[in-house]
Amino acid sequence: MKVICTKDYQDMSRKAANIISAQVIMKPNAVLGLATGSTPLGIYDQLIDWYHKDDISFRYVTTVNLDEYRGLARTHEQSYWYFMHAHFFNHIDIDPSHVYLPNGNARDPEKECLAYDEIVRSLGGIDLQLLGIGLDGHIGFNEPGVAFELGTHLVDLDQSTIEANKRFFNDDASLVPKQAFTMGIRMIMQARKVVLVANGKAKAEILRKAFWGPVTPEVPASILQMHPDFTLIADKEALSLCPQCL
Ligand code: F6R
Repeated sequence: MKVICTKDYQDMSRKAANIISAQVIMKPNAVLGLATGSTPLGIYDQLIDWYHKDDISFRYVTTVNLDEYRGLARTHEQSYWYFMHAHFFNHIDIDPSHVYLPNGNARDPEKECLAYDEIVRSLGGIDLQLLGIGLDGHIGFNEPGVAFELGTHLVDLDQSTIEANKRFFNDDASLVPKQAFTMGIRMIMQARKVVLVANGKAKAEILRKAFWGPVTPEVPASILQMHPDFTLIADKEALSLCPQCL
């Protein structure tokens, strides 16, 4: 595990964008595993900026997103499909047919999960997986207690995740979908490179538990300690409880 301590959110975003950019320059047809949430927004802004400056092209890139709420239409502003297009895909030269997210409206969830695993397999796996981390240690929507060996699956969201995400639903927890499709830990661990970003004091305790505590399904992100090419990029505040960064 490699830890990069940054001075602030902007610095974190720029450093993570640098790593993604290097991946795409080295392998223009890279498969990028992407995340939603507030943390990666600065990374997407930076990559869009470099795209406009002609420093990077996504023309041959394929993306596979980590997760999607169950039951929201793609056109719903809080669907992850909408989020990724609004914040990233609509602003770059990616081929729309190279963009994958789980279909939150799939009639047969089990079939959808198998199909999503098959998409990633047929693409040859993920070159670089970008992750955020939830306050309970979730990655994707792999909540505490998850089996590390699971593939893509449908999850019941933890109450703490529903509470954390209600800010995107007019602060009304009842509007937050109760289930989501998520890539499993198995696929995340099979990515050739994993980068997790975190910022702010609120993430300090979970970073300490996840990356300086025992590896346990109770803290799903802790499994990343076992990944051969895992980089944690976090600002000083998020790393304030972590021994290496004192
Ligand atoms: C989103 C995702 C989630 C978020 C996590 C942190 O695709 O996979 O695991 O990364 O909930 O969210 P933020 O960045 O909003 O703190």
